[in-house]
Amino acid sequence: MAESVAETVTESPVKRLVVLVSGSGTNLQALLDAIAEMSAAVYGAEVVAVGADRDGIEGLARAERAGLPTFVCRVKDHESREAWDAALTEAVDAYEPDLVVSAGFMKIVGKEFLARFGGRFVNTHPALLPSFPGAHGVRDALAYGAKVTGCTVHFVDDGVDTGPIIAQGVVEVRDEDDESALHERIKDVERRLLVEVVGRIARNGYRIEGRKVVIL
Ligand code: GRF
Repeated sequence: MAESVAETVTESPVKRLVVLVSGSGTNLQALLDAIAEMSAAVYGAEVVAVGADRDGIEGLARAERAGLPTFVCRVKDHESREAWDAALTEAVDAYEPDLVVSAGFMKIVGKEFLARFGGRFVNTHPALLPSFPGAHGVRDALAYGAKVTGCTVHFVDDGVDTGPIIAQGVVEVRDEDDESALHERIKDVERRLLVEVVGRIARNGYRIEGRKVVIL
């Protein structure tokens, strides 16, 4: 008698995330909350470590409160930018991430980091790229007189905020806005977008075709 062939349902493994922060870490917190709420298995990813380029920030405190391993890799502790980049690469690699998420990480990584994590290094930027790249995306959009701005979740390449775009969220600029009020409204959209995008790419997988990102 022929044996029945059992159908194999392979569960997609939970992806490992290393999150990099430089500040208050509310985007990190949004990821942690979503994962805690729906479970890593359902979300498709877990945060395995949090790294920073400076000490004493709320982003690291949030990670510690969540019981996560943390590491700090400061440029000034290294003799060159390349040595810092190599050290950051090793520190992140030690946690064997599937994806690295820059959630308000205010440093441009170098060649070695991109050679190791390129194509799986996600950043969130508080403007609608390619408009207003760089460290002052909110201030620059406001100064330009833009009527809409927002946030962009994208893969990191070797330029400044130039990598392939995964998703964007739009925020209207109000007449009475200052940088801080506008940034808070952007961050509200940004946190939800980051949680949604990271979950989708972790669960479904993705392809980068030139500038186009296709979530499978
Ligand atoms: C975000 O708006 C991010 O895009 C920008 O800095 C902010 C970080 O916020 N680069 P937080 O540290 O996640 O609260």
